[in-house]
This record gives sequence, C-alpha cells and structure tokens, in this order.
Amino acid sequence: MSQQSLTMVDLFAGLGGFSAAAGRVGIKVVLATDVSQTCETIYRANFTAPFVRQDIRQASAPGQPSVSELVTAAQPDIVTAGFPCQSFSRAGRQAGLADPLGRGQLVFDLLNLLRAARPRAFLLENVANLAAHAGGATLGQILQELTSLGYFVTHSVLDAHVISGLPARRERLYIVGVARQEWLERFAWPSAAQKFVGWREILQPPAQIADKYYETGRKLAAHVPGFDWRADTIYTYRRSYVRAAAGGVFPTLMANMGTGGYNVPLVVDKRGLRPLTVRECARLQGLSDDFVLPAELLDKHLYQALGNSISVPTVAAILGGLQAALT
Ligand SMILES: C[S@@+](CC[C@H](N)C(=O)[O-])C[C@H]1O[C@@H](n2cnc3c(N)ncnc32)[C@H](O)[C@@H]1O
Repeated sequence: MSQQSLTMVDLFAGLGGFSAAAGRVGIKVVLATDVSQTCETIYRANFTAPFVRQDIRQASAPGQPSVSELVTAAQPDIVTAGFPCQSFSRAGRQAGLADPLGRGQLVFDLLNLLRAARPRAFLLENVANLAAHAGGATLGQILQELTSLGYFVTHSVLDAHVISGLPARRERLYIVGVARQEWLERFAWPSAAQKFVGWREILQPPAQIADKYYETGRKLAAHVPGFDWRADTIYTYRRSYVRAAAGGVFPTLMANMGTGGYNVPLVVDKRGLRPLTVRECARLQGLSDDFVLPAELLDKHLYQALGNSISVPTVAAILGGLQAALT
C-alpha cells in the first residue's frame, strides 16, 4: 500500500471540475491544461496546480514542449479528460470521429498522449450519446484503441443526479482504463446516493440576487404572453418554446446557456421569473460556495464554463473508486 497520494493531470481542464473532484479524495493535481483563456482565469482563481494554456494538438511555439511532452514529463498516476463533445452530442451535428472541424479528432490526440505518457490509469468523460453514436461503432473504436495501448478498460453511463443526489440531471459516459488487470478487478463504479437534495435547496435567497436576473426573466416572459408561470415548476426556454422539467430535477446544464436566459433553467421566486444565477449553476455541478466565479468574467462565459463542467461529487466518487483500486 502506497502512503503517498496519487498524482493526476487534468486535460481539457475547463473550470477545473476534475481538479476539484481530485481535491475531495486527496489526489494531487500536478498539471492542468486547456486552450481557453476563460478557463485559465477561472482555474487560476481556484487552484494552485500549474495551468498551461495550450492547444493539445500543437506546441505553443516552435521549440516549446507539446502538451503530450509536458504530461509525459509530469509522470502522473492518472490522466483525466472530459474531451470536447460537440461531435458526439445529440444537440450537435453528430459528425463523430470524422468531424471536419477536428473536434472528434481530438480523441486521437488524446490516444497519442496516453501512448507517450503511459499513466497507470485514466478517466475519460463525454456525453452519454457517444455510447450510441454510429450504433455503438464510435465507442467501440475508441475502446479498442485504448485496449491496444495495453489498458484494461470499462465504461458506464451514469446520471449525476443518481450518484450525487443533487437535483441536476447529467447523464455522461465515463471510461476508466488501468494498466493492470488486477486494478480493473478491484475497481467498482459508485453506487446511488443515499440522500437527495430538493431543487429549492440550491436556490439563493431572492434578496441576494441581482436585479439583472429578474430583468432577463421579464424579457423572456414577454415572448410568451399569458403563459402561466408557476412557482412549483422548473422551466427552460429554448428559442421559441417553454419546456417544464419533470420530477423536480433541473435539466442538464449546457455549454450554450446564454445571458439572454436561453437554455438556462428558469424558476419563479417571490420577486418573479428568473434564470438560475451562475452561483446556482455552480451548486448544481457540486462546486462549493467558496469556488470563485471571477467577477471580471461575463456571465455568458461563466454559464458556458459551468455548462461544460463535470459533476464534482460524481467524479469524486469515481476517482475514489480508482484510487482504491490503484493503492
Ligand atoms: C467539455 S469541456 C471540459 C470541462 C471540464 N472537464 C470541466 O470540468 O470544467 C472541454 C474543454 O476542452 C477545451 N478544448 C477544446 N479544444 C481544445 C484543444 N484543441 N486543446 C486543448 N483544449 C481544448 C475547451 O476549452 C473546453 O474547456
């Protein structure tokens, strides 16, 4: 049994969801990397791990190390990657690995990186639809490539609501790979939460909420005159129609949530109709209230990063299982 904490590299780190989850189970993040300036700002406001803003496909400048070389030098036990999902998402065009914009191709950069860095284990995350894409052939190809690198792999589609008990739907495909069969035999996926949080419990008190949110709510309501907005229902407004969420669980937060209130879940409180605040979205992803949402960033950028984030307690539970298997 090793007493030293495991180390991890957070690839496609976004706002640092995997890093927050690692912190909860005592895994040390030695490197985080993402191409986005917004993500760098959020990450640096919350974590001390080195952050490198760089495209995974290339070196930052001639003669500079690539992300793959940086990860190889860091020698992490675990690599995590919530690789970009537009190519597989039901909401996107479903171009898959052959996406001409290259977003599906990032899987191959990830595979090359794993081949070079050879971590003891990895945890990959993507939209649930990746499992169904091309009748399962896309996932089959990815799993086969991972196996041919010498990893023992397992995958599961988990809903963050079920695992974390938070009132946030988020079905995601998780792929775990380990370099030894015995580690795979010791690994177990997390089980369902014992306790569930009610959707109103994540709401901020109306007095704490900026007027701009209610102004957005009034503008959205004007698009559907006479609609009966009820305080006991969660809504979303998707371009031209209002949808009520079932079961008292917020629908999956998405990267295309905007400040105009589109796609952001809507609630009615004592002051009126409004979209969830960025803090409430952070709570739905399981980020604690001391997680800094930098004031210099526009809400639309924060919504986007929060819609891209993993569910922190869900991933912490998976990383806990991986840690138990490896140590
Ligand atoms: C689904 S998000 C990951 C979110 C992250 N797991 C979290 O918890 O916040 C995908 C990330 O990949 C980044 N990305 C997209 N293309 C990239 C590239 N070529 N190189 C590096 N990062 C890239 C995006 O900026 C985005 O933050």
